[in-house]
Amino acid sequence: MGAGIPLAKGAIVPDDVSRHGMWSSRWLFVLAATGSAVGLGNIWKFPYITGENGGGAFVVVYLLCIAAIGIPIMMAEVMLGRSGRQSPINTMRSLIRESGGHRSWSVIGWMGVLAGVLILSFYAVIAGWAVFYVFRLASGVFEGVDGSQSSALFGEFLSNPWAVLLWQTLFMVATIVIVARGVARGLEVAVRWLMPILLLLLVGLVGYAAVYGDFGQGFAFLFSFDASRLTWDGTLTAMGHAFFTLSLGMGAIMAYGAYMPSQASISTTVVTIGVLDTVVALAAGLAIFPIVFVEGLVPGAGPGLMFETLPVAFGNLPFGAVLGTIFFLLVSFAAITSAISLTEPALAFLVEEYNAKRWRVAISLGAVCWLLGIGTVLSFNVWADAKLFGLTFFDLVDYVSGKIMLPLGGLLIALFAGWVLNRRIADEQLGFEGLRREVWDLVIRFVAPLGVLVVFGYTIYQSFG
Ligand code: PHE
Repeated sequence: MGAGIPLAKGAIVPDDVSRHGMWSSRWLFVLAATGSAVGLGNIWKFPYITGENGGGAFVVVYLLCIAAIGIPIMMAEVMLGRSGRQSPINTMRSLIRESGGHRSWSVIGWMGVLAGVLILSFYAVIAGWAVFYVFRLASGVFEGVDGSQSSALFGEFLSNPWAVLLWQTLFMVATIVIVARGVARGLEVAVRWLMPILLLLLVGLVGYAAVYGDFGQGFAFLFSFDASRLTWDGTLTAMGHAFFTLSLGMGAIMAYGAYMPSQASISTTVVTIGVLDTVVALAAGLAIFPIVFVEGLVPGAGPGLMFETLPVAFGNLPFGAVLGTIFFLLVSFAAITSAISLTEPALAFLVEEYNAKRWRVAISLGAVCWLLGIGTVLSFNVWADAKLFGLTFFDLVDYVSGKIMLPLGGLLIALFAGWVLNRRIADEQLGFEGLRREVWDLVIRFVAPLGVLVVFGYTIYQSFG
């Protein structure tokens, strides 16, 4: 994707390219979208929320949400983005015009911009932890540690707001530098190599967990279905996470879709991305839980889970310090390829609207997210006891963005794509005919929206009813 050709406001953009640049092939779109999808959500968040929600039954609901809600909505986002070829807000505006829909559908774009800012604010903090762990593993402090020593080391780091702030700042600056320069070829090429290496290392860690951890118990925890452990709040968490992990509901994939070549098949591309994302999450779970059980740690330890368990593995492996350093480096990389996509909807919009320079917009946006992120930094120390509705600042931002805004955004996207969007556009983009077209209609009009509504409805009913 290039830096973008400056155009006057209101200039007519040639039909099939975006002014912000284009992915050079379908494969690069897959890489970029996978880079967006695979991130802290898979390696950090998925295992810890699975732990907090009792394991297997939660995983089943999550997988169902990916298949029945996530994949179709991702197809819808790519389709909308590619037919509009602008930032999500302006894409929505022009599709509304072409389809004769009500103006208020553009809320999809606006809410996405806001969700992106909220998510990036805490995302950079957690990514900062991962960057710190690159150095911490390299230093060799984890040599020979057990679970409780590793937990203590993590707790000590978290309790120092200045340290956490430093690493958050570093990550934010790195993100802004990359974003400001436009997602250069360098990154695309890097992702091409780093994603496979990350996956390989994860598989290696699963191997370690199988040999040295309690693999049977870890596996059973992840995959044995025990319906009695399922709650409506857990179901909402699973659904929210399906959106989060696939980067859906806030326009990131719509923005990336705007730079996708027209001839590529949306359905195969999206299924590839969904499968890769799921494989990474499950591998992370299989690497983490066997260690949790053998070390006597608790699966419901919360956001620190990955930082407490994996260093135990690395600390006790031959060449563990080197492997651990590489691992956290890759996690940081996975995080930054996601962070970039969180800024794209807002960035592209501001560039279009004010014809502003990309780097200026990037810096301002970064500053806002950084400031807001300080609330998350403090949530783990100074403000740990400051709670609203029983939630810390971090919990609150995470809740509102992940459990409300993303699913709501996804719901609106499905409804718009299924009921409002001009039929010709959908047919052109998806290339579905006959039975496939009917199945698509059924899924995007009913299955996906009803899925979101049922989970929303029941959770509200359970909490207030
Ligand atoms: N999908 C990313 C992850 O799993 C997070 C993300 C959410 C990125 C929403 C973009 C948009 O880490």
